[in-house]
Amino acid sequence: MKRRHSKGGSEFNPETLALGLGYEPRLSEGAVKPPVFLTSTFQFESAMDGKRFFEVAYGLREKDPGEVPGLIYSRLNNPNLQIFEERLAAWDHTDKGAVFASGMAAISTTLLALLQPGDAVIASAPVYGGTHFFFEHILPRYGITVRQVLGGDGAVERMRAAAREVGSETVRLLYVETPANPSNALTDIAAVSVLARELSAGRDRPALTAVDNTFLGPVFQRAADHGADLVIYSATKFIGGHSDLVAGVVTGSEALIDEINTYRTVLGTMANPFTGWLLLRSLETLSVRMRRQAKTADKLAAQIADHPKVTRVHYPGLLPEGSPQRALYERQCTGAGSLIAFEVEGGEQAAFRVLDAFEVCRLAVSLGGTETLVEHPMSMTHADVPPALLETFGVTPGLIRMSVGLEHLSDLRRDLKFALDAA
Ligand SMILES: Cc1ncc(COP(=O)(O)O)c(C=O)c1O
Repeated sequence: MKRRHSKGGSEFNPETLALGLGYEPRLSEGAVKPPVFLTSTFQFESAMDGKRFFEVAYGLREKDPGEVPGLIYSRLNNPNLQIFEERLAAWDHTDKGAVFASGMAAISTTLLALLQPGDAVIASAPVYGGTHFFFEHILPRYGITVRQVLGGDGAVERMRAAAREVGSETVRLLYVETPANPSNALTDIAAVSVLARELSAGRDRPALTAVDNTFLGPVFQRAADHGADLVIYSATKFIGGHSDLVAGVVTGSEALIDEINTYRTVLGTMANPFTGWLLLRSLETLSVRMRRQAKTADKLAAQIADHPKVTRVHYPGLLPEGSPQRALYERQCTGAGSLIAFEVEGGEQAAFRVLDAFEVCRLAVSLGGTETLVEHPMSMTHADVPPALLETFGVTPGLIRMSVGLEHLSDLRRDLKFALDAA
């Protein structure tokens, strides 16, 4: 397939591109699979080549037409990372990607690259606990104002009001996590990106929209198609998919990713070649895994909703017909994914009884792997967010988050019944 996105006028689908895009077997002894390029540095054929590669890498000259940037050093570039980035960017309908050592490395490097003192960020809430910490405790140290407003219905109006409050002209970034971790609340990406364009009118540095697409993307949600400038993932989750690596990725326009890559190079937050290779392996099965996990989750969500000890279930597939969240789900997503959050009667004690009673499902944080994981957001993944604030986001002491894996449905059903009965 080589470096072709299409044949006979029709574009290849991402599942097909995930098996061939960006890799030339000819350059690797004909190996069908990309080898692991486990090398820190690359040998130049001539001193002039080395000079020219650096000129492009450090932005000292524009690339010549058709020039492919040369390989230099694995903190700058490496084939395992580049092939993965190209395949994921194609899936996201974006120009380019950058892969990082973790989701947090992707988020922090991106924000540090784009923001400067005096800028403001308006973000939806809740967001993943680490992102919340970065917003609340790290960005303000660099003179950056962060306002978090409740995501979900009405989020865009709340973002507009927060922008007015901090001074619309200072807003550089609208940051959205949708569905939100762990509440599964959906925020309207298209409406947020319209707000970003409104805020940008007459400015040199526009306001940008960044979406944490970890829960549904790229299979069930393509944030860039709805107007996002940057699409961010914890690739530790579905993209890696086997709970055996930690990585992150950002995709977007070539200009933005080049700006972010300058920071990645200097901060040294890139992924290593073996992680890049593992991600390539994982991307090949991403669509199959996510679709099968979502199918099982749909059945389990219904079972959870029917249990007498369960007071609330947050799952996009169960959104009531006719509700604004349902309408948004139908516009923005093509599947409900496999993250279910549910609340049991009896607060933390009941939630812990349920968590301790699971046998097939593992009690562990993280999500998107092949095994089903359950955890308690309030005391685990979101423990560094003040409890009173968490409750306003719907994260209550009785809330459990479940990431549905690839086990047989009947085994999960039995395990779930046994655990819920223990509440
Ligand atoms: C939605 C979301 N974004 C970002 C992250 C951070 O990713 P990582 O753990 O790979 O640094 C997580 C981790 O749980 C997450 O759930």
